[in-house]
Order: sequence, then structure tokens, then C-alpha cells
Amino acid sequence: MRTEKQISTSVLVIGTGGSGLRAAIELAELGTDVLAMGKRPKNDAHTSLAAGGINAALGTMDEEDSWQQHAADTIKESYYLADPRTVQVVAQGATRGIEDLERYGMNFAREHDGRISQRFFGAHKFRRTAFAGDYTGLEIQRTLIKRAEQLQIPILDSVYVTELLVADGVIFGAYGFDVNDGTGYLIQADAVILAAGGHNRIWRRSSSRRDENTGDSFRLAVEAGARLRDAELVQFHPSGIIEPESVAGTLISEAARGEGGILTNALGERFMKRYDSERMELSTRDRVALAAYTEISEGRGTDKGGVWLDVSHLPRETIMSRLPRVYQTMLEEQMLDITREKIEIAPTAHYSMGGVWVDPLTHASEVPGLYAIGEASSGLHGANRLGGNSLIELLVFGRIVGQEASDYSRSLSVHHRSHEAINKARSTVDSLVNADGEENVRSLQRAIRDVMTEHAGVVRNEESLNRGLEKLAEIEERMQNIGIHPDIAGYQDLCHAFDLKSSVLAARATLESAVERKETRGCHNRSDYPMTDPRLQVNLVWSPEGIVREAIPAVPEEIEKLITEVSQIGKLVE
Ligand code: FUM
Repeated sequence: MRTEKQISTSVLVIGTGGSGLRAAIELAELGTDVLAMGKRPKNDAHTSLAAGGINAALGTMDEEDSWQQHAADTIKESYYLADPRTVQVVAQGATRGIEDLERYGMNFAREHDGRISQRFFGAHKFRRTAFAGDYTGLEIQRTLIKRAEQLQIPILDSVYVTELLVADGVIFGAYGFDVNDGTGYLIQADAVILAAGGHNRIWRRSSSRRDENTGDSFRLAVEAGARLRDAELVQFHPSGIIEPESVAGTLISEAARGEGGILTNALGERFMKRYDSERMELSTRDRVALAAYTEISEGRGTDKGGVWLDVSHLPRETIMSRLPRVYQTMLEEQMLDITREKIEIAPTAHYSMGGVWVDPLTHASEVPGLYAIGEASSGLHGANRLGGNSLIELLVFGRIVGQEASDYSRSLSVHHRSHEAINKARSTVDSLVNADGEENVRSLQRAIRDVMTEHAGVVRNEESLNRGLEKLAEIEERMQNIGIHPDIAGYQDLCHAFDLKSSVLAARATLESAVERKETRGCHNRSDYPMTDPRLQVNLVWSPEGIVREAIPAVPEEIEKLITEVSQIGKLVE
């Protein structure tokens, strides 16, 4: 018999990474009761891995920059699938986001005269990416934790949330368990903010670590009645390390190319000339990833299936001050000194550009009381995210969602509750704790990663996607017979079982939406539909009942006039 704790709060934030903490800070500053909860230690949240920078048109390096140009670059490179209203909110609010971080004490890299430094990132017209070495996410996470501590925000970062609680279609909290001792947690709340990341760990090679980004937000939201938008739009980052296998996919920041790094194939050719001769290594992520993929699949890759990224020509001082994490990572993982040697890399699943359907301005989902933010949400990135835009999104929408959830909580005159929903959540956990089937959860997770890697990678086609769906159905069948074995060390096996449930839902949404998007656009390369189809300049909104197409509003004129055409030349799909 597990014990259970019961807590009441006004707003529950699920996820203690950057977006969750920023929302919690806003709520606390407004004087609204808030509790933040996550499944992994807050100091080690996924945000701490974000490397190269955070975007805002501060104009510290290039005075001509403007929020309108930032918005134009974002929309153009989203291949017109971003919602212009969301883009405008982020681009316009970005300076305030940076100011908030400065106010909390963030250590940005600065020029000698004190200006915040800004570097180039792929496909930005100007130097717009502020940074702290290539530890920008870590520095942001530390800064937000410090601020949260000043505000005495309660944070429980060892609770796995298994289910959102819904009564009469309205959110009233969440259920979960402590990952160390299995204690149940029943949290009653007026509103819930989902900030529990995306689903890019369901690929074999991923820039996320083992148990993060397993699609938790997607499952929690869908089971509560929300829908997902553009689940098929997953960004593959061009540069993940390829060995050792246990950390394959670990990110080598785009900052390496931003600082002047060069890509070559096994023949020594600087291959980006073939794909985007103008922007070369600073082309968009989808193009650089596809270019690397094409070089490898056409036989011009290394023996181990990679291409080379070289920064060894850069001054040692530049590497040490602006790429310290890349330097450390390569020493730790491969005992390779990047000041002297090239790095072997290949594309890695990096970011969920789709996510929970949310209102473009408030990030409220379609379920009253439920909000989503950060990688859990959708609307800003479309079919290709500009590097550095996710960190600024969490600052801007963290503030907005905090305000929205606070207003919603204060406006409630009736508190919905349902014993049935609570009992169901409890019994789902209890029955899994007692499950003693023969299927191993870890190997089923591996099976999902294999399916996604083989059938929904950088280049896709209908036959292969459908084969992926067949294999997924077999995995779903095997999941009926899993065995869970919590032990003295903790309830990790139970966490993995819920991760598995989330991963399978996220995989299904991705594969089905990828079948439906019969075109090539941004990250979504269909070898059987190599052209972009103007009729598919829509968002695909998925629920277990099916997929509907959603129109995207027109781009405001002041932004549109700054957009230069998106050329398809060099966008190779065999
Ligand atoms: O390459 C990078 O540093 C990644 C940044 C991002 O995804 O925003």
C-alpha cells in the first residue's frame, strides 16, 4: 500500500526547466499561489543543455536589426507554418525577456564596453543571439532557480506526474508519485501549466538524455482532452556526436558554426557549397541537416557514418571563451581536442516544433484551465525553428502564461472536482506497480526509438511511415504485458512505464501526421513528395479521433515586406 500526500494550490506548473520556472516566477511575483513539479532534479533540467544562445533584436552588434526583422526571419524559415501572431508576440517581447534575465542577475557575454554580445546563428539576418559561452541554457536555468528561491516558490523535483485531473471537461489538478519512494501525490489546482518538454527522445540518436523529452506533455494533454499540432515537425540538428553509442546524438552547438566552424565530407569537400552556396554553414538547420544526411547516404560520409565539423582553425582563445562546452564534451566523451582535431558528427533529433495546440496569444489549450508552454506547446516554429528562438520563447511566454493562469485562477467562482477522476488516476498507478508481465519496458522503449529512426527520420516516405505504424501497433500490443519492478533503489521502472505510454502516443501522432503531410517542407522531407504543396500551408491538428487541417492567418504587412523569398534550390531529396 503506497502512502499519498495531498496538496492544494492555485496554479500547478508541471516541469521545472526554464519555461516552467519562468511561469512560476511570474505567478509568485503576482502573489498567486504556485507549485512547480518535475521528474528530474531542477539543476539538471533539459534547459541546462541548451547551448548556443537566446534571440532578441537588441541591436547591440547590428543596429539595423528590429523585432520586425526577427519576426520576418522566423516566419520565413518556418516555411510559413508559424502562426504570425505568436511570432509577433515573441519577437516584440524578446527585449523584455532579456531585461528580465538581467534583472534576475544573468551573466551574459559582453563586449568590452559592456554591451551584451550577440553572435550569428543560422539563417538570422543579423547578429541577434545573446549568449553565455555555449552554456546559455545552464546559465538561464541557474538564474531562474536563484530567482525562484528568492521568491520562495515551492519546487518538488522528484515527482512524476502520471495524469491530469479533469472534471466536467475542466482541469482541477494532477496525480503523480515520488520517483524515489513511490509516495502518491494528489495535487488539486485551479489551473495547470504544462512545461514538460517535447518528444525528441523517441529517436535513437537524440540531443536529449535518456529519460527526458519522452512525450509526457503530449500524452498528459491528449488524455485530458487537448489536441496536438504538427507533431510530425521535428527538428533534426545537423551536429550530434556519433560515438560512444550511449551518448550518440549529444549536441555540438550551432555556435561552433556561428563562430566560423567548417563542414566537410570524407572527400574533404566543403559540401554546403552544393546546398546553399550563399549562407554555407550558416544556412537553416533543416538544410544543413539534410545536406549532412545526403552526403552520408550518398557515400561521401566517414566510415562511421558521419561528416566533419572543424573549428581547429579558430584562435584557441575563441574556442575556450565561446565554445567551452563543445571543448569539454569532446574531451570527456572521445578524448578529442577540438583545438587540433575535427569532430565527427551526424544529424540528431533535437526539438519538437509541434506540440500541444494552444491559443496563439495566451497559450491556453482547448481544455479550460490547461496551458502549455515551451517545447510542450506549438505555434512559433512551424517547419523549421531558428536556433535560439526556443530560449526566448520560454522567457516571453513564461511571463504571459503566468499572467493568464493567474487571471484564470482568480476568476473562478466554482472549483470543479471529481472523485472518479482521482480514483482512476490512483488505480492506474497501482495496477502498473503490480504489473508482472514478461515484456521489459526498456526494450519496448528501444523498439519505439528504432521504429522512429528507421521510418520517420530526416527523409520519409509513405510506405515506410505506414510500415512504422504497423510496427508501432505490435509494440502497443506487447505493452499489454509489461512487468514493473520498483526496488530499493527507487521507482524508476514505473517512470519508464509512463515514459513508454507517452512515447507510444507521441510516436503515433508523429507517424500519422507525417503520412498526412504529403509534401516536403522544412524539416519534413518526403522523398515521394519532393515539392512543397501550397495547399498544405496549414497546421495539422491531431487527436486520437483523426487529423484536421487548420488555416494559418496572413502575415502582417510590416513583417511581410521584410521577408525575402525562400528558395528551394539545393533542397535535395533523393
Ligand atoms: O546549437 C545550439 O546551440 C542549439 C540551440 C537551439 O537549439 O536553440
